[in-house]
Amino acid sequence: MSKSATDIAFVPTMGALHDGHLSLIRQARALTPNVVVSIFVNPLQFDNPDDLAKYPRDLEGDIAKAESAGATRIWAPTYDEVYPTTFEKLSAGDVGKTFEGASRPGHFDGMLTVVNQLFKAVQPRYAIFGEKDFQQLFIVRNWVRHAGIPIEIIPGPIVRESDGLAMSSRNVRLRPEDRLAALVISRALRSGTKEQALEILQSEPAFTLDYAQIVDPSTFTIANEPVEGSRMIVAGWINGVRLLDNMPMSVSA
Ligand code: PAF
Repeated sequence: MSKSATDIAFVPTMGALHDGHLSLIRQARALTPNVVVSIFVNPLQFDNPDDLAKYPRDLEGDIAKAESAGATRIWAPTYDEVYPTTFEKLSAGDVGKTFEGASRPGHFDGMLTVVNQLFKAVQPRYAIFGEKDFQQLFIVRNWVRHAGIPIEIIPGPIVRESDGLAMSSRNVRLRPEDRLAALVISRALRSGTKEQALEILQSEPAFTLDYAQIVDPSTFTIANEPVEGSRMIVAGWINGVRLLDNMPMSVSA
């Protein structure tokens, strides 16, 4: 595909924008002058009504932040605009039922369904997805490849607070003591082995572990040994707030 002045780079979001999102918008702007940011809290990807109700919302603040990072069009559609009376419901397949998908049944089917609806409306040439949601990135990339959709999926690196906490819209729900306890996640990831990571995670009483695994980047299945490009992925809860993070693993020579 050759570049054109009308190419769109798309950053789909659920709002509550933080520096992680803004870095995706900047990445998009470096690709093309036409940057569309969508802000839509997608009910289909929430299995927990409480999580949906508590999802932070700040449309006015989001618009200002997105514009300052280089968005040229901000689209905050209504439910009916995204989901007409009939629409295609997608399945994220087997990978969609593991890790995040095992703890949040239907999450990835709902995510893929909305991404499909948003892609059809925006018709981007590029779409930027953060590596923080590494399984989401894997599922979207695979789907685009297999369905032959002519959109380049571009990964955006995780943005961390200075103390190591991965930026997330859910972080605003952490009390100061939760915020401190949450640092156990990046500390565990930096340890470099699964055994050490588990030990570190289990040493923090405020953290409830869901999973800590090394995954093979080509299949998103558990890798017993780190392979080229593999990542350690961690998820759990602190005071009811779900947190996830991941880091590349180095392969020993
Ligand atoms: O990563 C997100 O914020 C959401 O899953 C996405 C991609 C905007 C779809 O709702």
